[in-house]
Amino acid sequence: MNILILGSGGREHALAWAALQNPKCDRLICAPGNAGMALIAECAALDIMDGAAVANYCLENKIDFVIVGPEAPLAAGVADDLRGAGILTFGPSKAAAMLEASKYFTKAVCDACNAPTAAYERFMQPEPAKTYIRAQGAPIVVKADGLAAGKGVIVAMSEAEALAAIDDMFDGSFGDAGAEVVIEEFMEGEEASFFVLSDGKSVLPMGTAQDHKQVGEGDTGPNTGGMGAYSPAPVMTPEVVQKTLDEIVQPTIDEMARRGTPFQGVLFVGLMIKDGQPRLVEYNVRFGDPECQALMMRLGAQALDVLLACAEGRLDQTRLNWADDHAMSVVMAANGYPGSYDKGTEIKGLEAVPPTSSLVVFHAGTTQDGDKTRATGGRVLNVTARGASLQEARDAAYAAVEKIDWPEGFYRKDIGWRAL
Ligand code: AMP
Ligand code: GLY
Repeated sequence: MNILILGSGGREHALAWAALQNPKCDRLICAPGNAGMALIAECAALDIMDGAAVANYCLENKIDFVIVGPEAPLAAGVADDLRGAGILTFGPSKAAAMLEASKYFTKAVCDACNAPTAAYERFMQPEPAKTYIRAQGAPIVVKADGLAAGKGVIVAMSEAEALAAIDDMFDGSFGDAGAEVVIEEFMEGEEASFFVLSDGKSVLPMGTAQDHKQVGEGDTGPNTGGMGAYSPAPVMTPEVVQKTLDEIVQPTIDEMARRGTPFQGVLFVGLMIKDGQPRLVEYNVRFGDPECQALMMRLGAQALDVLLACAEGRLDQTRLNWADDHAMSVVMAANGYPGSYDKGTEIKGLEAVPPTSSLVVFHAGTTQDGDKTRATGGRVLNVTARGASLQEARDAAYAAVEKIDWPEGFYRKDIGWRAL
C-alpha cells in the first residue's frame, strides 16, 4: 500500500521508520518531512494544514493510508477532510481532537465520566480567576485553554507566580489559547505517559513512557517539548495500567462515543501517579514526541498493523507482541533552546551512527544542504536505542550521541535518571 505521513519531526521520522519495515508498505511519502525522512522515503512539499490540498494529493497519488503526526492539523479538521474524501486515515476528527485542543473540554469529559483528575475551575475574566487563586493558595496550576505548543501551563509554586500567569494569559501572551483559563489543583506524584489506540469503541494499549520536559539536568529549568524519553515507564505497573484503562481511558472513549464524536487515533494519556492511583493530567490526541521514538523502536513493523487496525475499526481483533525490552531517546537540541537559538548550523558525524534495528538517529529539525546536514529547529536529533535493560538502551544511545559532531548543540546527560 501507499502511505502518507503528515509531519516533519522526530515523531514522524520514527513512524516512517517503523512503517517501512512492514511488508505492507510499498511506497512511503512524508509531507513535508525533513532531511532524515528524505533518506528513507519520498518527501512532498504539502501544506499539511490544508485538508483539501492533502486530500487532492492523496487522490492524485493513489495514497491508501494517511497517518497524521501532529496535533495542529487534527485540531484543524484535516482528518475529517481526508475521511470525507474516502481516504483511510489514522487520527481523530476535529471534534474528538478537542481532547487536546481545549483543557476545559477535557475537564468536562472527565466530569461526565467520573475520571479521576485535578479539581478545577474555568475562567473567562482575570479578576474572578485571581480571587479564586487567592482563595485556593499555592501551589496551583494555571492553564491556557487552547493549544499553546506546550507553553500554556504554569505550575505556580507561589500565589504571586499564579497571579502573574493570569495577567500574561489575559494580556494575550498565549494568543487565542489564553482567552479562557483553567485553574487546577496541584497534583503531587510521579508523571508517566500512557499511549492507547482507540477505534472509537475498543482500546489497545500501545505502551508507556516517561519524558523529561525540563531543559536542565535533574529536571530543572524551563519546560521544553521534551528532552528525552524512555519506555516502558516503571511506575506504570500492570495494576496502574489496568486502573488507568478502567477508570480513565475507557470511560473517556465511551463518553466521546455517547456524544456522537467517537475518538479514533492514539490517545496520549498524561498521568500523575501517587500511591498506585493514577489521575489524569491531560490528554493529547497524537503520539508524544520524543516518546513515540522510543515506542516505535520497541514495536517496529507491527506499529503499522495496529495503526491500520485502528483506522479500520478492528482493534478488538488486534494484539501487540511486546518483547521484554527497553528503549530510550535522547534529544539533541540547538544551544539556547527553548529560548532563541541559531538556525542553519552544520551537523557532522552522522555517518558514524548508521541505523540498525536497535539504534536510529531520528531527525527532528534538520534540512539537507548539498552534502551537509543543517539544524533548522530547536529540537534537532533524537538518538534512540533499544536494549535488554534500560541501562543497555541508555549506554547505546549515549555512545551514539558522543559520535555526533555538533558543537552548536547540547543534550541532557541524565535521561532516565529516575528509573536507573
Ligand atoms: P500539560 O501541558 O497539561 O501536560 O502540563 C505540562 C506539565 O505541567 C505536566 O507535564 C505536569 O508536569 C505539569 N502539570 C500540569 N497539570 C498539573 C497539575 N494539576 N498538577 C501538577 N502538575 C501539573
Ligand atoms: N513530549 C511531550 C509531548 O509530545 O507533548
